[in-house]
Amino acid sequence: MSSETDVQKFPDDFEWGVSTAAYQIEGAVHEDGRGRSIWDVFSHAPGNVARGDNGDVACDHYHRFPEDVALLRDLGVGSYRFSVAWPRIQPEGRGPAEHRGLDFYGRLVDELLDAGVEPWLTLYHWDLPQALEERGGWRNRDTARRFADYAALVHDALGDRVTRWTTLNEPFCSAFLGMAIGEHAPGVREGHGALAAAHHLMVGHGLAVQAMRAQRRGEERFGITLNLSDVRPASADPADRSAAERLDLLHNRVFTDPILGGVWPASEREVWSEISDFGFRRADDLALIRQPLDFLGVNFYCPAWAKSAPTADPDPAHRSAAEIDVEYVVPPELPRTAMGWPVEPEGMSGLLRRLDEEYGELPPIYITENGAAYRDEIDATGAVSDPERIAFIAAHLTALRTAMAKGVDVRGYFCWSLLDNFEWAYGYAKRFGLVYVDYEDLRRIPKASYYWYRDMMRAQRGG
Ligand code: FCB
Repeated sequence: MSSETDVQKFPDDFEWGVSTAAYQIEGAVHEDGRGRSIWDVFSHAPGNVARGDNGDVACDHYHRFPEDVALLRDLGVGSYRFSVAWPRIQPEGRGPAEHRGLDFYGRLVDELLDAGVEPWLTLYHWDLPQALEERGGWRNRDTARRFADYAALVHDALGDRVTRWTTLNEPFCSAFLGMAIGEHAPGVREGHGALAAAHHLMVGHGLAVQAMRAQRRGEERFGITLNLSDVRPASADPADRSAAERLDLLHNRVFTDPILGGVWPASEREVWSEISDFGFRRADDLALIRQPLDFLGVNFYCPAWAKSAPTADPDPAHRSAAEIDVEYVVPPELPRTAMGWPVEPEGMSGLLRRLDEEYGELPPIYITENGAAYRDEIDATGAVSDPERIAFIAAHLTALRTAMAKGVDVRGYFCWSLLDNFEWAYGYAKRFGLVYVDYEDLRRIPKASYYWYRDMMRAQRGG
C-alpha cells in the first residue's frame, strides 16, 4: 500500500461492512409471488432510466446469493447491510406475509451467519409496492401504517437472527428525488405531495420502530439511514448564503430537525408557505417521529454547493418542493467520479462534526454508505484495476478518523457497494462495486479495491 492509501488505526470494535439494496441486485422480479414495485413500473416506462435498463435480472442475486455470501466471507467484512423488498413480503402492500419471500431472506440470513457475517437489514430501500402507490403512496398517511405492519411481519420472522434494523434508507430520495425532482420512482414533480411524502415517511419510521420494539426479543437495535449533505454557499454573497440555508433545509433539516431534534425546521413555512399548509401533520406526530434511536446511519458521497438562482415556477400551483431558487454548482478544481460527483472527503468530517454540535446527544453513528463509481474495465489479464476507488475510500476513512478524533461517536463504516448493480436512473452504466459484474454472463470479478479493502480490514484487526 502506498502512504496515500494507508488507513489509520480505528478502534478494535469498529465495525466494517458493505451495503447493497434489493432492487439493485436481486432480479427475479416475477418469482415466488413478488408483487410489482414503483421501481418496476418506473424503470419500464420509456425515458426514465438510461439505456432503458431495469432491475428484472440485475445481478441475479436472488439465485446467486450463496456465491455473493462467499464473496463477503472472503472479503472478511464483519457485517453486510442489505434490504428487503417489501413487494416480496406483501405483494399488494397489505395483508399476510408471502412466506416464499420471507423464506428467501431467511435463507440469506442463515447463509450470512454461517459465513460469520452479521446481517444488517434495511426495510425500505425505495421499492414501494405499486398497489400502495395507486392509493396515493407516501402522500397518504395510510402508507405509514402499512409500512409499520410490514416491518412487524419481517421483524417477527427474522428478529431472532437479525440484530440491526434500519427502517428507511434515505427518505430524502424517496420524497424529493422521487416526488419533487422526478428522477426516481414514482417520477413526479409535486409541491404539497412531496412534503406530505417526506412527513409520512417519517411517521412510518416512527410507527415501525414502535411496532418492532413492542415485539423485541432481545438484542435487536433500531435506527434509520439519512443521506445528509454538507451544504456550503457557492460564494460569500448573502444571496448564496441564504440559498445554502434553503438547500440545507431540503437535504437535511426536513429530516434531522424532527428525527433528532424533536422540532419542525424553523424556515420551512417561509420557504414552502405558498405550496403547502402542512395540513398533513397531527398534534402528536413530532413525538412519534422522534423515537429513541439505537443508531443513526449516515450515507455520504459528496458535499453540495448552493448558488442563488431563480429556479422556482412563479405559479405556486406548478412549483415542486425542490424549486427553492437554488442551483447546484461544483468548484471546477475538484476531481469528480463517473457520476460527476465532486470528491471532497472533508465534507464527511465537516458534516459529522456539525451534526454532533447541533443536536448533541446523538445516537452512535454508522456510515452506512460511502463509495464511488468509476469507469472500470476488465484488462487483458482478466483483472479490474480501480486505483481511484481505493484512493476515494482511503481518503474518506482518513476524514472519518479525524471526525472521531474530534469526538464524534462513529461505530462503523459500510462501503457502497459489494457488487456493481442497477444504479437507479443511471442503470448499469455506473459501477460502484468492489466486485465487477459482467452483465453478459453475470460473472463476478473482484476488483483491486476488493483486495485492498480485505487487506485493510485484516491490518485493522492486527493481521
Ligand atoms: C445512494 C443509494 C444507493 C446507491 C448510492 C450510489 O443514494 O442509497 O442505493 O444508489 O446512492
